[in-house]
Amino acid sequence: MQTTEVIPVEHCKMVSLPRIGDYRGDLSFIEGNNHIPFPIERVYYLYDVPHSQYRGAHAHKRLQQLIVAVAGSFNVSLDDGYNTHTLTLNNPARGLLVHNLVWRELFNFSMHAVCLVLASRRYEESDYYRDYDEFLKAVRLENKQK
Ligand code: TYD
Repeated sequence: MQTTEVIPVEHCKMVSLPRIGDYRGDLSFIEGNNHIPFPIERVYYLYDVPHSQYRGAHAHKRLQQLIVAVAGSFNVSLDDGYNTHTLTLNNPARGLLVHNLVWRELFNFSMHAVCLVLASRRYEESDYYRDYDEFLKAVRLENKQK
Protein backbone atom coordinates (compact mmCIF):
# COMPACT_ATOMS: atom_id res chain seq x y z
CA MET A 1 0.00 0.00 0.00
CA GLN A 2 1.19 3.50 -0.77
CA THR A 3 2.22 5.54 2.25
CA THR A 4 3.03 9.22 2.52
CA GLU A 5 5.15 11.03 5.04
CA VAL A 6 4.34 14.67 5.64
CA ILE A 7 7.34 16.98 5.96
CA PRO A 8 7.25 20.45 7.54
CA VAL A 9 7.20 22.37 4.25
CA GLU A 10 3.84 23.38 2.79
CA HIS A 11 2.26 20.63 0.60
CA CYS A 12 5.53 18.69 0.21
CA LYS A 13 5.70 15.02 1.15
CA MET A 14 7.60 11.78 0.72
CA VAL A 15 5.61 9.10 -1.09
CA SER A 16 6.38 5.43 -1.19
CA LEU A 17 6.24 3.90 -4.66
CA PRO A 18 5.28 0.38 -5.64
CA ARG A 19 8.23 -2.01 -5.47
CA ILE A 20 8.02 -5.44 -7.04
CA GLY A 21 11.00 -7.54 -6.19
CA ASP A 22 12.08 -11.10 -6.79
CA TYR A 23 15.35 -12.94 -7.33
CA ARG A 24 15.79 -11.03 -10.64
CA GLY A 25 15.87 -7.67 -8.89
CA ASP A 26 13.45 -4.87 -8.07
CA LEU A 27 11.02 -2.87 -10.20
CA SER A 28 9.21 0.36 -9.27
CA PHE A 29 6.71 2.32 -11.33
CA ILE A 30 4.91 5.63 -11.18
CA GLU A 31 1.56 6.44 -12.77
CA GLY A 32 0.44 10.02 -13.22
CA ASN A 33 -2.75 10.92 -11.33
CA ASN A 34 -2.37 7.71 -9.33
CA HIS A 35 0.89 7.52 -7.38
CA ILE A 36 1.38 11.26 -7.86
CA PRO A 37 -1.38 13.90 -7.92
CA PHE A 38 -0.79 15.17 -11.47
CA PRO A 39 -0.48 13.86 -15.02
CA ILE A 40 3.16 13.57 -16.12
CA GLU A 41 3.96 16.15 -18.83
CA ARG A 42 7.75 15.90 -18.75
CA VAL A 43 10.55 13.69 -17.47
CA TYR A 44 14.13 14.84 -16.97
CA TYR A 45 17.12 13.55 -15.06
CA LEU A 46 20.34 14.87 -13.60
CA TYR A 47 23.47 12.74 -13.69
CA ASP A 48 27.24 13.14 -13.58
CA VAL A 49 26.74 15.95 -11.06
CA PRO A 50 30.08 16.77 -9.38
CA HIS A 51 29.98 16.27 -5.60
CA SER A 52 30.69 19.96 -4.90
CA GLN A 53 27.93 21.29 -7.18
CA TYR A 54 24.48 22.61 -6.33
CA ARG A 55 21.47 22.24 -8.64
CA GLY A 56 18.07 23.86 -8.41
CA ALA A 57 18.18 27.12 -6.45
CA HIS A 58 14.82 28.14 -7.83
CA ALA A 59 11.07 27.80 -7.27
CA HIS A 60 8.27 27.30 -9.77
CA LYS A 61 5.16 29.40 -10.17
CA ARG A 62 2.86 26.51 -11.18
CA LEU A 63 4.96 23.39 -11.75
CA GLN A 64 4.81 20.41 -9.39
CA GLN A 65 7.40 17.65 -9.38
CA LEU A 66 8.24 14.25 -8.01
CA ILE A 67 11.98 13.81 -7.38
CA VAL A 68 13.43 10.30 -7.08
CA ALA A 69 17.00 9.18 -6.43
CA VAL A 70 16.91 6.27 -8.90
CA ALA A 71 20.62 5.69 -8.21
CA GLY A 72 22.95 6.94 -5.49
CA SER A 73 22.00 9.72 -3.10
CA PHE A 74 21.78 13.49 -2.77
CA ASN A 75 20.31 16.05 -0.39
CA VAL A 76 17.36 18.32 -1.09
CA SER A 77 16.61 21.45 0.89
CA LEU A 78 13.09 22.85 0.68
CA ASP A 79 11.84 26.30 1.66
CA ASP A 80 8.21 27.43 1.41
CA GLY A 81 9.04 30.98 2.48
CA TYR A 82 8.26 30.20 6.15
CA ASN A 83 9.71 26.75 6.91
CA THR A 84 12.80 24.96 5.66
CA HIS A 85 13.65 21.27 5.70
CA THR A 86 16.57 19.26 4.36
CA LEU A 87 16.39 15.57 3.59
CA THR A 88 18.41 12.87 1.90
CA LEU A 89 17.02 10.95 -1.06
CA ASN A 90 18.65 7.55 -1.48
CA ASN A 91 15.82 5.11 -2.19
CA PRO A 92 14.47 4.40 -5.73
CA ALA A 93 11.16 3.29 -4.19
CA ARG A 94 10.48 6.66 -2.53
CA GLY A 95 9.84 10.03 -4.13
CA LEU A 96 9.71 13.59 -2.89
CA LEU A 97 6.68 15.60 -4.00
CA VAL A 98 7.60 19.25 -4.36
CA HIS A 99 4.73 21.70 -4.67
CA ASN A 100 4.83 24.91 -6.64
CA LEU A 101 6.11 27.99 -4.77
CA VAL A 102 8.76 25.96 -2.94
CA TRP A 103 12.41 26.96 -3.27
CA ARG A 104 14.62 23.86 -3.66
CA GLU A 105 18.32 23.17 -3.76
CA LEU A 106 19.92 19.80 -4.55
CA PHE A 107 23.46 19.09 -3.41
CA ASN A 108 25.87 16.52 -1.99
CA PHE A 109 25.44 14.19 -4.97
CA SER A 110 27.13 10.82 -4.54
CA MET A 111 29.17 9.31 -7.35
CA HIS A 112 26.89 7.90 -10.10
CA ALA A 113 23.76 9.45 -8.53
CA VAL A 114 20.81 9.87 -10.89
CA CYS A 115 18.04 12.30 -9.97
CA LEU A 116 14.84 11.53 -11.88
CA VAL A 117 12.20 14.26 -12.02
CA LEU A 118 8.59 13.82 -13.14
CA ALA A 119 7.02 17.18 -13.85
CA SER A 120 3.43 18.36 -14.17
CA ARG A 121 4.23 20.81 -16.97
CA ARG A 122 6.51 21.20 -19.97
CA TYR A 123 9.60 23.35 -19.67
CA GLU A 124 8.82 27.07 -19.54
CA GLU A 125 11.49 29.50 -18.35
CA SER A 126 8.69 31.94 -17.46
CA ASP A 127 7.51 29.48 -14.76
CA TYR A 128 10.74 29.90 -12.74
CA TYR A 129 11.57 32.18 -9.83
CA ARG A 130 15.37 32.21 -9.97
CA ASP A 131 15.72 35.15 -7.61
CA TYR A 132 15.15 34.26 -3.94
CA ASP A 133 13.81 37.71 -2.96
CA GLU A 134 11.36 37.67 -5.85
CA PHE A 135 10.20 34.20 -4.71
CA LEU A 136 9.72 35.41 -1.13
CA LYS A 137 7.69 38.39 -2.30
CA ALA A 138 5.44 36.11 -4.38
CA VAL A 139 4.87 33.71 -1.45
CA ARG A 140 4.02 36.53 0.96
CA LEU A 141 1.61 38.07 -1.59
CA GLU A 142 -0.07 34.68 -2.18
CA ASN A 143 -0.59 34.19 1.57
CA LYS A 144 -1.96 37.70 2.05
CA GLN A 145 -4.58 36.98 -0.61
CA LYS A 146 -5.72 33.71 1.05
P1 TYD B 1 17.61 24.22 -14.54
O1 TYD B 1 16.16 23.93 -14.33
O2 TYD B 1 18.12 25.55 -14.11
O3 TYD B 1 18.50 23.07 -13.86
P2 TYD B 1 18.74 22.73 -12.32
O4 TYD B 1 17.58 23.25 -11.57
O5 TYD B 1 18.87 21.25 -12.28
O6 TYD B 1 20.03 23.34 -11.88
O7 TYD B 1 17.93 23.98 -16.07
C1 TYD B 1 19.26 24.00 -16.57
C2 TYD B 1 19.19 24.35 -18.05
O8 TYD B 1 18.50 23.33 -18.78
C3 TYD B 1 18.46 25.66 -18.33
O9 TYD B 1 19.15 26.32 -19.39
C4 TYD B 1 17.11 25.24 -18.82
C5 TYD B 1 17.37 23.89 -19.47
N1 TYD B 1 16.23 22.96 -19.34
C6 TYD B 1 15.48 22.64 -20.46
O10 TYD B 1 15.73 23.15 -21.58
N2 TYD B 1 14.44 21.78 -20.32
C7 TYD B 1 14.12 21.22 -19.13
O11 TYD B 1 13.16 20.40 -19.04
C8 TYD B 1 14.90 21.56 -17.97
C9 TYD B 1 14.59 20.98 -16.61
C10 TYD B 1 15.95 22.45 -18.13
